[in-house]
Amino acid sequence: MLKGRSVLLVIGGGIAAYKSAELIRLIRKAGGGVRVILTKAGSEFVTPLTIASLSGEKVYDDIFSLTDETEMGHIELSRSADLVVVAPATADLMAKAANGLANDLASTALLATDKPVLMAPAMNVRMWNHAATQRNLATLQRDGIVFVGPDDGEMACGEYGPGRMAEPAAILAAIEAHFARNSGLRPLAGKHVLITAGPTHEPIDPVRYIANRSSGKQGYALAEAAHQAGARVTLVSGPVTLPAPTGVTLIRVETAEEMNEAVEKALPADLAIFAAAVADWRVKNAASEKIKKQGHAIAPIELAENPDILARVSRHTDLRPRLVVGFAAETENVIVHATAKLARKGCDLIVANDVSPQSGVMGGERNQVHILSASGIESLPEMDKAAVAEVLIARFARLLTQAQT
Ligand code: CTP
Repeated sequence: MLKGRSVLLVIGGGIAAYKSAELIRLIRKAGGGVRVILTKAGSEFVTPLTIASLSGEKVYDDIFSLTDETEMGHIELSRSADLVVVAPATADLMAKAANGLANDLASTALLATDKPVLMAPAMNVRMWNHAATQRNLATLQRDGIVFVGPDDGEMACGEYGPGRMAEPAAILAAIEAHFARNSGLRPLAGKHVLITAGPTHEPIDPVRYIANRSSGKQGYALAEAAHQAGARVTLVSGPVTLPAPTGVTLIRVETAEEMNEAVEKALPADLAIFAAAVADWRVKNAASEKIKKQGHAIAPIELAENPDILARVSRHTDLRPRLVVGFAAETENVIVHATAKLARKGCDLIVANDVSPQSGVMGGERNQVHILSASGIESLPEMDKAAVAEVLIARFARLLTQAQT
């Protein structure tokens, strides 16, 4: 996915520098080239020899060694890549970049570059939360620098919280998403993509309903990513509080039956993604007036099964989309349940995720998914939902193209 792309990787001084060695390997495996600037502090954690062996290039660490006419100057070094990645981006590197300081090769390259910059911060949680770092972060974001991570978790110093550098696979996914976004390629041009998102509400009476905790964020992010990839997108959404994505046909529904009807009407489609958390049951004896507490015995709520929209579309003989993708929201044994769902629903792929309360996925900003198909399982790193959507859409577009040829 990175064929012909080159990355200038700036490795700052932090324990996470060892993960950057793995990042170099992943970038090269994906077909990209890597040149590395290793700061003096960075070289306390990984050696120039390790980095040179992995990158297959000379490692740049001293601004004055670049002044020789025969060497590449720091301006050229900073502009020779398609993307500059700073990993780990230490508090010091962020502060320098935010304020335009240039007193070593890394900070000079960051000031001299005219290329997009991606930073993967790594530092102690208190340093990350400090007002100065948060101020620098806001400044860098305003300057157009994109961030991946930091993750929450146990830190090398024994403290817990945000500050861990994103995993190398997540940084690679952010690099791939950057190039996909900026390639001008529209792999889904001319395709119709149908997406369901959000919960459904099943009325008990005119004021009460059965619902679930789905926020619709992942489905909406998929709709945006599919639109960015050039598709005509129909988004059938249950009740959510999210703004309508631009450029997407949004059909708002409330119940599973309404969602089913809207999906049927929106067919045919080339790709259908069922990200909605559809209620399995509706209330059979829903009251037409508000149920009163006083003077009535408690009436049991009778349930009737809702149509399984995904299973029905998967089994369509004439209008089946070429690629049908389901989601599996599980709270335990994620892979086992999702594998069973792949067979039961008759779809081509299942995107499985853990929605147990401790995962923070339902309603949260981040997600970690596994893509299951007849040919195996691919697990993506934990990323924000927009990044997950970009990677998923890129995978689906590739499968759709393969199915066509
Ligand atoms: N789905 C659907 N219509 C339904 C129920 C589910 O289209 N009535 C779709 C969801 O959008 C998702 C997939 O089926 O893509 C799996 O949904 P999930 O709720 O995880 O599975 P269920 O079939 O409801 O199975 P279970 O409740 O046993 O986990």
